[in-house]
Amino acid sequence: LSFATRSKSVTTMAASQEFTGNLKHEVEKLFAESLRLTVPDGTSVDTEVAASLPGKPGDYQCNNAMGLWSLIKGKGTQFRGPPAVGQAISKNLPASEMVETCSVAGPGFVNLVLSSKWMAKSIEKMLVEGIDTWAPTLPVKRAVVDFSSPNIAKEMHVGHLRSTIIGDTLARMLEFSKVEVLRRNHVGDWGTQFGMLIEYLFEKFPDTESVTETAIGDLQSFYKQSKTKFDNDTDFKEKAQKAVVRLQGGDPIYRKAWAKICEISRTEFAKVYQRLKVELEEKGESFYNPYIANVIGELDSKGLIEESEGARVIFLEGFNIPLMVVKSDGGFNYASTDLTALWYRLNEEKAEWIVYVTDVGQQQHFNMFFKAARKAGWLPESDKTYPRVDHVGFGLVLGDDGKRFRTRSSDVVRLVDLLDEAKTRSKTALIERGKDKEWTAEELDQTAEAVGYGAVKYADLKNNRLTNYTFNFDQMLSDKGNTAVYLLYAHARICSIIRKSGKDIDELKKTEKLALDHPEERALGLHLLRFAETVEEACSNLLPNVLCHYLYDLSERYTSFYSIHQVIGSKEEASRLLLCEATAVVMRKCFHLLGITPVYKI
Ligand code: ARG
Repeated sequence: LSFATRSKSVTTMAASQEFTGNLKHEVEKLFAESLRLTVPDGTSVDTEVAASLPGKPGDYQCNNAMGLWSLIKGKGTQFRGPPAVGQAISKNLPASEMVETCSVAGPGFVNLVLSSKWMAKSIEKMLVEGIDTWAPTLPVKRAVVDFSSPNIAKEMHVGHLRSTIIGDTLARMLEFSKVEVLRRNHVGDWGTQFGMLIEYLFEKFPDTESVTETAIGDLQSFYKQSKTKFDNDTDFKEKAQKAVVRLQGGDPIYRKAWAKICEISRTEFAKVYQRLKVELEEKGESFYNPYIANVIGELDSKGLIEESEGARVIFLEGFNIPLMVVKSDGGFNYASTDLTALWYRLNEEKAEWIVYVTDVGQQQHFNMFFKAARKAGWLPESDKTYPRVDHVGFGLVLGDDGKRFRTRSSDVVRLVDLLDEAKTRSKTALIERGKDKEWTAEELDQTAEAVGYGAVKYADLKNNRLTNYTFNFDQMLSDKGNTAVYLLYAHARICSIIRKSGKDIDELKKTEKLALDHPEERALGLHLLRFAETVEEACSNLLPNVLCHYLYDLSERYTSFYSIHQVIGSKEEASRLLLCEATAVVMRKCFHLLGITPVYKI
């Protein structure tokens, strides 16, 4: 083993280092190269690079010295301790225009200070070439996001709203990262409940062909009525059970009735999606039905399926109950459908990453069928290797009383009403501020919508999704604190500064330079440059709240800058306007990724 600090032979690397938008990766690349030169041959270490905490001497730090020391000490190394290892890492750092200084502190932390010039240049470049040049790159080409997924004829509840909001954001982040996303609405359209619904439909509307949505009215109460009848009337119950068999056997009359019921539900769901501007492609449970028998057959031929109490099940290590895949009456269930959908997504749709967004209550179901799929050899053993599956669980929505969220009037919350209330409330607040006199009716309505729906989305997304969150209109629609309203206003304020300057910002981008000479300008600039690594983190860990925190921090950094430095009329006006524009561009991208419509006027 040779422990020598090799001399720098990598000056060429610096020249070829083109900024890919992900600052952390760029810094990692530099340190990886330095470690390659510092570490003895044959010792492999992962680069440990982290953004430095505010107030610390550097912008990024490399924390490898201590670990490396414990690997090499006593093995004839020339180094005297971790600080010396740190010195070597620092000395071996390839020359790069990115770096201002590199120094060692304490027990060997290597602190890197970025060059403000380089930072400014990178931001200028983004302004000219567009924010998409800061998109992260992920190791997958195609992903499925399975989200929203309400059940036909049953209520679409706040849990489905959370799934819709979180799933849409994850899809948007993946799409921004150049992943092709199949946005799948896995609606519950194929269960035993359809027997009862169809039979009830036949009874109430003998002329099923001409029955309209308005005639059936509220599908949820229709469902409740048919359920009551099913529970109390044995004749009806029998008919309903036969109806399931006829439906699943493909009887055209039953299929038609089924389609009608699905259609009515679909129009109801669409009202929610249209308000939230969420796009989804429905591939419900019924879609996979024709494939189930084959998939179960495949699992059977692999010896995975056993007989248990008349049912067919898969026993899985680490679970005290088996996964049922064929019920004792021979019918298929939620798990058989999910296994089949997974098979389809992997083999027919060639998805490399499949993400499921539901409440944490379903975690066991997902863990079990994921495990079964690994056993079948469909997925690699390691859950971080592709093709990969992830269950994105989320907590409950609570009311102010700390219990499951409900409205006062009934025990269900109609999502459409809930969203409409958010919009109405935000419109009222705008009118109180006299905006109805300043703006056209259309502007007022659009702003109320952006703010109202944005508030609902942001209140959900800003929390770690696993925790329960309290639904409170006053809080989410407040213009203070970490809310969509505050952030949308912050963005609008920046836009109004740019407008008031009277300058053509596109012209400035071409002709003027950006400088980050003052600490607040530099801190804001650094935060802007951390956008890509933040999206990548939020995306890889499937945590939208990471992006929300970033956005909130961004507006705080902007405030610190703007409250100290004059923009319009200062000698740095052009540079500062560019910094304002870059902030607005990044904020808008964050809004876009969170599914929030930005506003430009307040
Ligand atoms: N329909 C289910 C429910 O409302 C959610 C489906 C989630 N997706 C899935 N592939 N299981 O609880």
